[in-house]
Amino acid sequence: MFPESNTGYSFEDCQATADWLLSQTAVRPLVGIVCGSGLGGLADALKDQVAFNYRDIPNFPQSTVHGHAGRLVFGTLKGRPCVCMQGRFHLYEGYPIQKITMPMRIFKMLGVETVILTNAAGGLNQDYKVGDIMIIKDHLNMPGFAGNNPLAGHNDERFGVRFPCMSDAYDRELQQMALDVGSELGFSDFLREGVYCVLGGPSFETIAECRMLHKLGADAVGMSTVHEVIVARHCGMRVFALSLITNKAVMDYDSEEKANHEEVLQTGKQRAEQLERLVSTIITRLEHNNNYA
Ligand code: HPA
Repeated sequence: MFPESNTGYSFEDCQATADWLLSQTAVRPLVGIVCGSGLGGLADALKDQVAFNYRDIPNFPQSTVHGHAGRLVFGTLKGRPCVCMQGRFHLYEGYPIQKITMPMRIFKMLGVETVILTNAAGGLNQDYKVGDIMIIKDHLNMPGFAGNNPLAGHNDERFGVRFPCMSDAYDRELQQMALDVGSELGFSDFLREGVYCVLGGPSFETIAECRMLHKLGADAVGMSTVHEVIVARHCGMRVFALSLITNKAVMDYDSEEKANHEEVLQTGKQRAEQLERLVSTIITRLEHNNNYA
């Protein structure tokens, strides 16, 4: 499974998985979507679906968390060929970080140019409300500070360079497009832009941790996305990411609020339809070769 010590799947392993998928479907996706907790409905919106359970895809990791279906769905969204991960992999499930991010390399090998990621997150910014949608403009990679980066270990230059730039990780043009589309759809009241901080989980943050993360410049906190973004950027795909604020992070010792997974899933359900409209409208405006009309 990990032929080059513990550094992940080889280029050839990824190629074999991508080739297998390409032999099973005629869809040639230009957009790759990763659905967060409770946000898997985006995959259901795809037309002419060809879907694979993760367990049936050679080399593919399996998803275990409640609320994640574990299917790779190919199809078209208003005529645009897409591939969608319905359910993703997390550090807290115990996977090596290379396994969590391996699907990004498969996306690249399938021909994907733009990756769109969604997640559920706790709001640290005191102006944020539950149900807000945050366009991610930057991230804080806390596991990365401790040496847990998906690119650690041997670097195969066929994927990307040894030291990839991350100051342009989140595509500015796509952020602006999301603001424009959000405004056209009447979403401006709950659309935000901010910094996402990833932690390993699965325990939610303490009050002291939330206060610290907020002071460090994070607007929202969660347990996903950043690792995938790093690997997607490493292999040259364009990235756009959204957080659905499903709960307010507890910042105050007098607060009676407690973060819980049911609340996260419930908020996802309520705002999911609007988030899906935002993403699908963005996709219809994407042009081939990374431009947008
Ligand atoms: N913290 C971490 N991850 C989360 C949260 C949170 O408050 N809400 C949804 N995912």
